[in-house]
Amino acid sequence: MTRMPVLSVAAVEAAADLVRRCTGLAFSGPRHSALRSGLVKAMQRAGATDPGGYMTALAEDPTLLDDLVAELTVGETYFFRDTDQFSLIRDEILPAMVARRARPLRIWSAGCATGEEPYTLAILVREHGGARDAHILGTDLSTGALARAWRASYGRWSLRGVPDRVVSAYFERVGDRFELIPSLRAAVEFRYLNLVEDSYPSLATGVCGMDLILCRNVLIYFDNEAILRVARRLLDSLSDDGWLLLGAADPPLGDIVPCQVVVTRAGLAYRRSAGRSVSLPSAWRSGGPEARHEFPFRPVEAASDGSAANEPQVPRRRGIRVPELTPRPRQSAPTPPAASEAETGGVPQDATEVVRRYREGDYAGAAELARRLVPRDGGDAGVWILLVRALANRGDLVEAGRACAAALDRHRASAELTYLHAVLLGEAGRDAEAAEAARRALYLDRRLVVAHLALGGALARLGDRDGAGRAFRNAERLLEAVPPREIVPAADGEPAGRLAEIARVQRALLSEERA
Ligand SMILES: C[S@@+](CC[C@H](N)C(=O)[O-])C[C@H]1O[C@@H](n2cnc3c(N)ncnc32)[C@H](O)[C@@H]1O
Repeated sequence: MTRMPVLSVAAVEAAADLVRRCTGLAFSGPRHSALRSGLVKAMQRAGATDPGGYMTALAEDPTLLDDLVAELTVGETYFFRDTDQFSLIRDEILPAMVARRARPLRIWSAGCATGEEPYTLAILVREHGGARDAHILGTDLSTGALARAWRASYGRWSLRGVPDRVVSAYFERVGDRFELIPSLRAAVEFRYLNLVEDSYPSLATGVCGMDLILCRNVLIYFDNEAILRVARRLLDSLSDDGWLLLGAADPPLGDIVPCQVVVTRAGLAYRRSAGRSVSLPSAWRSGGPEARHEFPFRPVEAASDGSAANEPQVPRRRGIRVPELTPRPRQSAPTPPAASEAETGGVPQDATEVVRRYREGDYAGAAELARRLVPRDGGDAGVWILLVRALANRGDLVEAGRACAAALDRHRASAELTYLHAVLLGEAGRDAEAAEAARRALYLDRRLVVAHLALGGALARLGDRDGAGRAFRNAERLLEAVPPREIVPAADGEPAGRLAEIARVQRALLSEERA
């Protein structure tokens, strides 16, 4: 270990600013001293003594940033944390969803830390027979936490309060460790995802059309601007009737983004605003939540002021400053025009409005327009691609699948449509077919990075670790030749650097020895 680096106030401020921009994490009050000591430890591990040089390296090397973030984030979590919320999910949300869905449920634990939260969801799904084949995704920024989540070996402390029956049904005791049984480990997929980046909703990151999102005890560490941005994207990643649950200490969202706020017996829950993307700002401009939702759950306790217990409660305004009043376009534009140019020689003029709406995140509008355009246009592949992506991004994966099949009838040789087909099959849990479709896409275009990633994901879920590792490595090799900020074709606006990071983390997870 190198000698202790000396940090000026300015150096700590510069680091705080960089970390805030990259991760949304804010450091005020007592957390400021945690930043200083975390910074010192991370610099020592990196062998750095000069703060300026370290900061430059930090901005360029994701592994260094990762190491610092691991030092600065609180990964505190345990199984069945907040039992009220989990009983709400078990008793109300899951049964209602299962009754309405003909497809597997899609559940996302955003900021899953070491995996206790998504595995708790997997246990609930397992116990609720009807929802056995749910697709459960756990994502986090910390690759160290993801590696531990993937290993699924826990100490007693992670299981505090969990009934013995549950422990003996789902864990095997090995020395002083509790290892989750393989079938439950296989029920959760872990991926790297930085919530403050604009990589979702998107098929490319597999985050869209979620029926239930848990993002608990994550926003609490963010600054106001990051809270706003992340809240919008979380809501945009829901299916039309999906649910977003935050932790009890997280900021209430009703006053800062348009959404439906539901008061449940386990606290506030959120749903998309009816009929349109929450990225649109009109309701927000008029201030406050746009609608209050029907009250599907058991009555909340009567309020102390005697107001009717069954009335949905308007959450109190909390001192969150709304930092901007105009919608922010996605930082990196999605690729449809470029992808279409590659395949069709350019998006037809009529499609520019579809592209505009898509870029603004108005996926419902983009899908509606694209649908009208497709038959008139005779089926330009670029417009079909926009249609499929817009439907998927607004959460309608079944319709996206139908549109993709119709598009492929007309454009058998389109590598991008074949890749989208692979992703949609994977999202539907049809992994063997997804792998086959991804291979077909690669046969059409060996250099299609996203198809390598889709193949890797499908093979990993099928348990073919070697095959998955090769696929992720192939993606990494192709990406090495591309400048990190360059937008990758067919990747829905993802830059090469971010995809390389995803491939790297996925490969690292595969090489982790599972318990
Ligand atoms: C306190 S843990 C919450 C774990 C779990 N959700 C729970 O409530 O038990 C917070 C997690 O958020 C993750 N996190 C912080 N910033 C993030 C970001 N920008 N993107 C993704 N994850 C982030 C941290 O790495 C950490 O694992």
